[in-house]
Amino acid sequence: MRFLFLFMLIVSAAMVPQMAFSEQAKTIDELVSSVDSSQCAGCHSDIHDNWSKSWHAKSVTDPRSLRTFRTFILKGIDKNKKPAGAKRTMLRDMCLKCHAPAALGASDELAEQIAGLVVTAVDDKDASKKEAAIKELSKLDINCITCHGVRTPGGLVEVRTTEGLVEGKLPAPPEPNTIFGPGDAKNPPHKDAIGFNTIKSENMKKSEFCMPCHHGCPPGMSSKECPTQWTVYQEHYIAHGGKQTCQDCHMQGKGGASHRFPGIYEKEFAATAIDLTLSATPTRHYDHLEDKMMPAIVMNVKLKNNSPHDLPHG
Ligand code: HEC
Ligand code: HEC
Ligand code: HEC
Ligand code: HEC
Ligand code: HEC
Repeated sequence: MRFLFLFMLIVSAAMVPQMAFSEQAKTIDELVSSVDSSQCAGCHSDIHDNWSKSWHAKSVTDPRSLRTFRTFILKGIDKNKKPAGAKRTMLRDMCLKCHAPAALGASDELAEQIAGLVVTAVDDKDASKKEAAIKELSKLDINCITCHGVRTPGGLVEVRTTEGLVEGKLPAPPEPNTIFGPGDAKNPPHKDAIGFNTIKSENMKKSEFCMPCHHGCPPGMSSKECPTQWTVYQEHYIAHGGKQTCQDCHMQGKGGASHRFPGIYEKEFAATAIDLTLSATPTRHYDHLEDKMMPAIVMNVKLKNNSPHDLPHG
């Protein structure tokens, strides 16, 4: 009896993730209906424009991501089948949890369909099928609600028993009709306009906000073993007195500009990472072949990395 009870406990603990998503979506439209951010564009058009040019807005559909997802599906999952019997749902669990947190609400069947769409989007010979697959997948790209609909985007919430014991961890789904914001706005008209509550989240201005997606190592790993934006930032920047948050550097500029999120591909922004100082001092050099003194210079090269990241990185 005791054994049976223990067995039931283990089974129910293992079932928790499935139960929490018992209303799993069966189509992409169903999946994204609660995270549709088109209703934000009308009032926040500047931010929307900038976001749409950021890598976040292409987190599934930029060609680099799509091609790597495809290789992961065909070579990693289909071919290797590791762990034994591995399924294409691994794309959802291993990649999309950060590249498209909305996909975590997909049923296994839908997750397999999404993986199929990725392969079509990259490999199909028919250009119109490719285009249609990309259009469908773009609904999953990181949008306003991915970041503003949860307290910690991409973060895990603890699932507790009624006694308060931790049973497991689940990705936080968006809270319905809620916008989490930094709290600077006086009277956002969200309630009247779209029926959304606006809640201040202290997390929004902290680097921790970006961490769940820009990290991904098991806890306790150092930047030597797992050099992510987070570990390197903590060990080589914060530990040496660095004060700026991810937002201070990557969300500069008023209004829309804050949501452009420039990185290594923006030349002007990337250039702010490096201070290069060259100084030359004239000297003389004795040339043995010619047997005479020649004019020469001593070059002093100073290279400083101002960014809290390894260079090159990414
Ligand atoms: C912990 C979150 C996380 C997981 C899990 C994750 N990624 Fe990423 N990925 C990111 C972030 C954040 C970036 C952008 C930052 C960067 O380039 O370092 C990124 C960038 C990328 C890029 C672009 C790299 C470049 O600059 O060329 C590709 C391709 C990619 N990921 C593929 C994958 C694949 C395939 C998987 C699953 C096997 C995966 N990712 C799993 C967070 C994640
Ligand atoms: C990658 C995550 C992310 C995405 C995607 C995102 N935001 Fe934000 N947003 C933030 C963070 C973080 C802040 C707080 C910045 C601060 O105050 O330091 C913020 C601040 C804001 C603000 C208040 C400050 C300002 O600049 O006016 C508004 C309004 C806003 N976001 C709207 C939007 C809309 C609309 C979208 C979709 C088009 C969007 N956000 C997409 C992370 C995001
Ligand atoms: C009817 C117009 C309207 C719509 C629709 C709208 N917003 Fe806003 N929003 C505003 C205004 C106006 C402000 C206040 C701007 C200020 O005071 O700086 C605001 C402020 C914000 C803030 C900052 C709140 C804070 O904590 O300081 C965020 C975040 C935000 N909006 C996100 C969104 C998102 C996400 C959507 C879509 C789900 C959305 N908004 C839809 C008009 C709108
Ligand atoms: C929901 C997960 C998620 C959150 C939250 C998030 N990011 Fe990202 N971010 C990504 C992914 C995934 C990519 C890569 C998209 C791609 O290239 O396909 C990315 C790309 C970027 C890039 C461009 C990288 C490049 O190669 O140039 C920058 C910069 C960036 N993020 C900064 C931030 C900052 C700063 C925050 C916090 C305010 C943040 N992100 C929050 C997932 C996230
Ligand atoms: C002091 C300013 C500064 C801070 C703080 C900062 N960054 Fe960066 N970041 C940069 C600069 C400059 C670049 C471009 C050059 C480079 O790659 O170092 C960059 C590049 C990136 C890239 C793209 C290249 C890559 O390394 O993959 C991502 C993603 C990114 N940062 C995310 C973050 C996140 C997440 C945080 C917070 C944990 C953060 N940054 C904190 C200045 C900063």
